Amino acid sequence: MAIQLIATGSALPKRIVPNRELENFIDTSDEWIYTHTGVRERHIIENEETTVSLGTDAAKAALEMAGMQPDEVDLIVCSTITPDCEVPGCAPRIRQLLGVTRDIPALDINANCTGCIYSLATARGLMETLGLETALVIGSDTLSTITNWEDRGTCILFGDGAGAFILRRSEEEGILAVHISGRNDDENVLVCNWPIPETPFYPAKTPMHTKLYMDGHKVFSFAVGALIDTIQYTLGQAGVEASALKAIVPHQANARIIKSTARRLDIPVEKFYMNVDRVGNTSSASVPIALDELARSGGLQSGDLVLLAGFGGGLTYGSALVRWK
Ligand code: COA
Repeated sequence: MAIQLIATGSALPKRIVPNRELENFIDTSDEWIYTHTGVRERHIIENEETTVSLGTDAAKAALEMAGMQPDEVDLIVCSTITPDCEVPGCAPRIRQLLGVTRDIPALDINANCTGCIYSLATARGLMETLGLETALVIGSDTLSTITNWEDRGTCILFGDGAGAFILRRSEEEGILAVHISGRNDDENVLVCNWPIPETPFYPAKTPMHTKLYMDGHKVFSFAVGALIDTIQYTLGQAGVEASALKAIVPHQANARIIKSTARRLDIPVEKFYMNVDRVGNTSSASVPIALDELARSGGLQSGDLVLLAGFGGGLTYGSALVRWK
């Protein structure tokens, strides 16, 4: 079945937190953060904003771009590591808030910062298996809720937001190749565990890292290697040269990771879309927000080839080569 990515949307919390604001509670500076990460500011939720509300807003924007009504959606896949609650998942809540009246499948995916690529692969597979016409794919995360705001080595990186895109069955193939993979995180370089309350059967368990813990150096070297591997693999699968790409939309974890990847692949860094300076690392939302910005700013014309690529905890990584509708 041929499938195209036909529309995008995104939503960011209203509150913008510049680096200078972090100086109020950790020993850091705007200059250190910018030179080491490329981040100038991030958006952080307040009041009623949540992973579900942001995901719903991003989905509405994508539906509007597609000229679709909520009841034309046949499947919802939401990638997140920061769900509002465990039951129900975010995707079923978003289905409800969008006002979908038909019974359709809606499920969450946890694949960390590669979540959007994993979700695209899942949605595409389910569309084929179930013979569906459309799928709404959402990446939404509120990392501020699991960030250790006392750890200056990690909290400077993260922000909140949501991105979405719509897949539709088509005559021409628009998803030219997809690659998802992962390797064991034997050294626990990226972890966050739930505390477990006491029950009649076992005592309470308080794991070491109930907020996001990261070994920055090890994640950095994994990230560059994984990005290179997956970009090369996907281009190879599709038989496409990097020079034919209009843009690469990588996970916005750190500008230095992206620049280092570009250098080692010998691809001009200008080809890598970057908004990490304004949004930071928004995990599952990172790639779809960047893709939405690129599309809405007129950066993609019909027929352009764009490569989406991600990596993250798990340790997951993956990429997808898309022909813009
Ligand atoms: N402000 C000021 N100084 C800071 C700081 C901050 N926010 N964070 C760390 N430092 C200090 C360190 O304490 C260290 O000081 P020292 O030399 O006196 O010991 C110095 O800056 C260098 O720290 P280091 O950890 O070597 O910095 P780095 O250049 O490796 O940058 C990261 C740290 C986290 C930005 C970087 O490792 C990184 O981006 N890793 C990948 C993270 C990532 O992408 N995660 C998400 C994956 S999905």
